[in-house]
Amino acid sequence: MKKVILDIDTGIDDALAILYLLKHPNVEVKGLTTGFGNVDVALATKNTLQISELAERPDVPVFAGASKPFLRTWKGPVVHVHGENGIGNVSLPEPKAKAQDETASDFIVRAVNEEPGEISVITVGRLTNLAEALAKDPFLPKKVKEVVIMGGAVTVPGNVTPVAEANIAGDPEAAHMVFEAGFPLTMVGLDVTMQTQITAEDMAWMVSQKNETNAELIDALDEMVRFRLDAYKKQDGIDGSPLHDPLAVAVTLHPDLVKTKPMLVAIETKGALSSGATIADLRASEKPYYNVNVCLEVDAERFIKEFVEVVSGKQREVL
Ligand code: BDR
Ligand code: CA
Repeated sequence: MKKVILDIDTGIDDALAILYLLKHPNVEVKGLTTGFGNVDVALATKNTLQISELAERPDVPVFAGASKPFLRTWKGPVVHVHGENGIGNVSLPEPKAKAQDETASDFIVRAVNEEPGEISVITVGRLTNLAEALAKDPFLPKKVKEVVIMGGAVTVPGNVTPVAEANIAGDPEAAHMVFEAGFPLTMVGLDVTMQTQITAEDMAWMVSQKNETNAELIDALDEMVRFRLDAYKKQDGIDGSPLHDPLAVAVTLHPDLVKTKPMLVAIETKGALSSGATIADLRASEKPYYNVNVCLEVDAERFIKEFVEVVSGKQREVL
């Protein structure tokens, strides 16, 4: 059974990733670490605690982390995609649990050192917490089992600029540190996450599976997904909502969902127009080494089925 740490900036798709991970039967979740990004770190932490309680997993410890990028200023919350409160304006009970006293990066260093070779770190926010952990323990790349990153785009356009994706563009220096450090790295970028969109029909199926046990969760999920479907319709004119962050969790738990290719990928930290771009060397010649396994194809149908089944706790016969 995999042992994982999930690093999040809890907006809507982060919340869906938490629900999917905490409801998944075949994983041991060591902790959830939070940072700024879709919302500020305090709100990301509160949302994470609330979503964990919604999933009936208040036992999973939450660690608050970075409040800003390494060298830059944070650009503020992404209200049009995630709502005023980051979770589509869904109102959830105040969390009963509190975050741990230990910081996110201290926890990552401790957890990985306690079980060398065992922990998969999944990041679905800015890479600031992981870069900070790396600065505290430069041997971290040799001690983690793997790092799976939701971020970047090598064969498709960016989403916050024509060439950059939000999690990388939000702290390019942190991403540069992580990409150059020698971690066993898998990149779940927009190349595949834009292909895995939850639709109104998928959500309607989940609502049809509501019962006494899962009603609260399904209602909250329905509100969050509808908010995000509206946002993507307005922003991109599409009829689905990409499951960016849940896909990174799914790839960690089921690597055969994707086809990957080893690539040499560098992070642009200087460009006036291209800051935060993930520049993959796509030239045919042999490279001296590769630093990232980049996901290029995904079995979207299988993933969406798995996602709705795990979250609702029900089997879906027909898609
Ligand atoms: C990423 O940016 C955030 O808005 C999402 O939560 C996801 O992690 C997609 O570019
Ligand atoms: Ca995220």
